[in-house]
Amino acid sequence: MNFNVRMLKNGIKRMATELDVLSGICGKEKMKAVKGMTSWNVETIRADFPVLSREVNGKPLVYLDNAASSQVPRTVIDRTSKYLAEEHSNIHRGVHYLSQHATTAYEAAREKVKRFINAKEAKECIFVRGTTEGINLVASSYGRKFIGEGDEILVSAMEHHSNIVPWQAIAEERGAKIRVIPMNERGELILDEYDKLLNARTKIVAVAHVSNSLGTINPIKEMIETAHKFGVPVLVDAAQSVPHFPVDVQDLDADFFVFSGHKMYAPTASGILYGKREWLDAMPPYQTGGGMIRTVSFEKTTYAPVPEKFEAGTPAIAAGIGLGAAIDYLNTIDFEAAASYEHSLLEYAAARLSDIPKVKIIGTAEKKASVLSFTIEDIHPHDIGTILDQDGIAVRAGHHCAQPVMQFFEVPATARASFAFYNTKEEVDKLADSIQKVIEVFE
Ligand code: ALA
Repeated sequence: MNFNVRMLKNGIKRMATELDVLSGICGKEKMKAVKGMTSWNVETIRADFPVLSREVNGKPLVYLDNAASSQVPRTVIDRTSKYLAEEHSNIHRGVHYLSQHATTAYEAAREKVKRFINAKEAKECIFVRGTTEGINLVASSYGRKFIGEGDEILVSAMEHHSNIVPWQAIAEERGAKIRVIPMNERGELILDEYDKLLNARTKIVAVAHVSNSLGTINPIKEMIETAHKFGVPVLVDAAQSVPHFPVDVQDLDADFFVFSGHKMYAPTASGILYGKREWLDAMPPYQTGGGMIRTVSFEKTTYAPVPEKFEAGTPAIAAGIGLGAAIDYLNTIDFEAAASYEHSLLEYAAARLSDIPKVKIIGTAEKKASVLSFTIEDIHPHDIGTILDQDGIAVRAGHHCAQPVMQFFEVPATARASFAFYNTKEEVDKLADSIQKVIEVFE
């Protein structure tokens, strides 16, 4: 469908559904939710995602595990299948038609990424398998070149293991120290402490844009500005932000910015490490082999420039093209409206769950996105997850690869509902009803 026609149709449908949504919401917290919900036609969006119409355990699927992996729209499925069915070939290596065609499609995806995050150059966008690989790349490559004995690496108290462990490994190898930016009881970073931790020995700050276990949106622009006063580069784990609101790496002035395709409506094994050109040029390769060299002899090898220097071996071509298609999809929707709708849904869900006795929300930061972690008194989160599943509701239960966060809040685990712009208020109601059922089962 032509972009303008689609926008117009969406507008008309939005107006038609506005009254339905308004009539189902009341109360002070819930009125706040109305603002975003009224400008978003969720039913039209849901129709773009085939899996959302399936049943699980005899009930309509309620998919609330988007922070782990989001669902994939038909356009992305079709583009990926078309590549596999009609265009598959290795890239950057062939003079034949298919190879050149696949290379063009893959490099076009890189251009789309560049525009999507507003990088200065497409070459600053390195294809990786996901956030974990991107962070490992920087920790290993930047770490081996720039981190030495007695240096310090700053991470925050709310990081995912993938933004802790790679830094611990390089710190151990280089004789450096990990310092931790603390957080408060709401799950917000304590910026005064952050300022105090920065010093001449700090070699990098690695921080989540949005916490996967708490949903906190960190003030990364401010944090980057502070780090830069000390000449310290900042790596942003953007796995949980890029799918939920527009980002601009130049405006943020991020040095490294890493995210996964599979959390932003693209296939698994797609992801991006954005790095400022001056850093990427100065860093040694992470993996070596085919595709990343300029010349090889038994005496000496010279390396290709970025991005090839960091893309050894045959990449995940179908996934990369799929990531480009996911960006095309996001460009057809009003992403600002999507973000505002999602936020309203999160506030509505927080209000519904807060009304249920025995439920405790973990992570109550003022600025949050997508994630609602909770516990129920005396019920293990795995039991919560299992009973919700019987109602077709998918949530994640566990430590969410953030054990230090669980230790801080003194819980073994949480249940976590995480939202995308295709979720509905009715799904939140089903979640709340099912939680009530969980409590009754254990009474
Ligand atoms: N990092 C993903 C999550 O938070 C898997 O669930």
